[in-house]
Amino acid sequence: MSRTIVVTGGGTGIGKAVAERFRADGDQVVITGRRAEVLEKTAAELGGKAVVCDGTDPEQVRRLLDELPGEVHVLVNNAGGNTDFGAADGHDDLAVVKNNWLANFDTNVLTAVLATTALMPRLVDGGAVVHVGSIAGARGAGSYGAAKAALATWNQDVATELGPRGITSNVVAPGYTAETEFFQDRMTPDRRNQLLEATMLRREGEVADIAAAIHFLASPAARHITAQVLHVNGGALTTR
Ligand SMILES: NC(=O)c1ccc[n+]([C@@H]2O[C@H](COP(=O)([O-])OP(=O)(O)OC[C@H]3O[C@@H](n4cnc5c(N)ncnc54)[C@H](OP(=O)(O)O)[C@@H]3O)[C@@H](O)[C@H]2O)c1
Repeated sequence: MSRTIVVTGGGTGIGKAVAERFRADGDQVVITGRRAEVLEKTAAELGGKAVVCDGTDPEQVRRLLDELPGEVHVLVNNAGGNTDFGAADGHDDLAVVKNNWLANFDTNVLTAVLATTALMPRLVDGGAVVHVGSIAGARGAGSYGAAKAALATWNQDVATELGPRGITSNVVAPGYTAETEFFQDRMTPDRRNQLLEATMLRREGEVADIAAAIHFLASPAARHITAQVLHVNGGALTTR
């Protein structure tokens, strides 16, 4: 059966790989993002639908509903990133500190909250919500890590609310993952080596690794897994 999958931030990196993974099953995929050109290029490549939508803007998220079918099977809240990269530096200016923290909250928590709230009535019973968190949510990275931790905590509420309908809600928390725009121009060979050395597998994450975990959580095999955080990081962070 072909399903409808909505992937926020699906134009690049992990989101693009997620869309590609579901397309391989013949699913209908809708990808969102702020840059029309990037989105349309990816949608044409994958055979999906592109909808320009800034996930932090309630009105744009409401308009996204007009572009979606009446039933959505899987929502992947992937849009996000560390807005501290390129942000104003101002530890001694509390107004700057406030803006920087709110930017990471908006980008990594509010995007998921607005999309999930808007799409809840459209999600089919037995469907799935998967949020993309981060290793930073467990390990800390300023306002970015705090936002990803908030996302994981809020996931408990989503899972509780959707559980009676057989809809699961989980977080996939990647470690360092290559082939994305996440680091912009900040990744150096030394930093990359450090991140590889921190894994037990001595390899960087690939976007397909993250997409596979998300695809699994949205599959029939994962119908009894909900309210969890699944870390995909090559052993860079362990859970017990
Ligand atoms: N790469 C890593 O090592 C890593 C590690 C842990 C977690 N993550 C998480 O993985 C997710 C995907 O990131 P990525 O690594 O694939 O980096 P990426 O290539 O930069 O992808 C992020 C995507 O999100 C979209 N986006 C950002 N803000 C948005 C907004 N307000 N509304 C709609 N779309 C928005 C971007 O498109 P537009 O700019 O066009 O809007 C972009 O396509 C993020 O949540 C990130 O925090 C990444």
